Amino acid sequence: MARKKFKDIAVENFILHYQQKRPIDWAAQFNRQAPLDLEIGFGLGEFLLDQSREAPERNYVGIELDWQRIKKTLHKIWAIRQPNGQNFFTDNIRILQVEADIALRRLFVPRSLHRVYCLFPCPWPKKGHIRYRLFSRPFCRVVNSRLVDGGFVQIVTDHEPYFEWLQEEVSGSGFRVEGRKISPRFNTKFERKWMGEGQEEFFELILRKSEHMDIPLEEDLPLTVYFVDDFIPDRFCFPGRVGCPSVVQKDFLFDPQRGKAMVHLVAAEEHVTQHVWIVIAKSRRGWYVALAAGQTVLPTPGVALAVRMTAEAVKQTFQENNTTNH
Ligand SMILES: C[S@@+](CC[C@H](N)C(=O)[O-])C[C@H]1O[C@@H](n2cnc3c(N)ncnc32)[C@H](O)[C@@H]1O
Repeated sequence: MARKKFKDIAVENFILHYQQKRPIDWAAQFNRQAPLDLEIGFGLGEFLLDQSREAPERNYVGIELDWQRIKKTLHKIWAIRQPNGQNFFTDNIRILQVEADIALRRLFVPRSLHRVYCLFPCPWPKKGHIRYRLFSRPFCRVVNSRLVDGGFVQIVTDHEPYFEWLQEEVSGSGFRVEGRKISPRFNTKFERKWMGEGQEEFFELILRKSEHMDIPLEEDLPLTVYFVDDFIPDRFCFPGRVGCPSVVQKDFLFDPQRGKAMVHLVAAEEHVTQHVWIVIAKSRRGWYVALAAGQTVLPTPGVALAVRMTAEAVKQTFQENNTTNH
């Protein structure tokens, strides 16, 4: 079977946000100060690339969850630069793989974005799935807070009930709303898809910032390293916690030769669910308990709690032993 050809990608346009100091210093990322615009869920990047070509004086950040789509977009940028690798209009694009709610709360300071675009957000048409829709009222408030005064959001959907739902959802989040039907004009994958199925008009909402919502930046927490006098791995029992945050155990591994254990936990809190590995290892100061290195984890209150609960469970193995010996 023929091997799939590796596609070259423009890594210089891609930001590993986990490795950046948060919030991101966008002027430093683009090597210049310019109006900053954001596209959420850019898919195959058609609109992002068009915008960046049409307005080279602006900086564009594109965020997307799906790695395959990101890879294809980065490949398009790479291909535009060929054959001599010269930078053209794509210099003003930065791409991140990140969930929109996390990005807006943690990567952008209040009043930093001029325009936010979202074309064909997932409409989650089933009644039971409405809670998954991105533009919920709390999210609209965060977007508002990150926009400069006079900034706006453009959302286009193929789904009329979503259009109607959003007009209600957005109330109370500091926007003046303008809605209208529009003809196809973006030539994105999903616009083409709906046109292919016979749809000839779509629904556009412009949300103009009219009042500022004060939603502060969510900042990283310093994560504690705990030291515990003793540890009896056979007795390790992670209690788990359901609430906000929730922390549950998925796995526990112990290597007696290396004197090292790893605990796999899931920490779920209001806006983010993360898988984390906590290391428990022997050291001169006793057993240390800390977030294991090499992970893409945001240091949130849920993660801090996961480390603390692990340290307490380690302590418990020793204290239980003491109790039974007496
Ligand atoms: C229906 S597609 C539209 C893609 C593109 N805008 C277009 O018009 O072809 C929705 C896109 O949003 C992305 N997405 C969904 N939820 C997201 C989120 N919370 N944060 C970032 N991207 C998201 C999906 O991965 C998907 O590529």
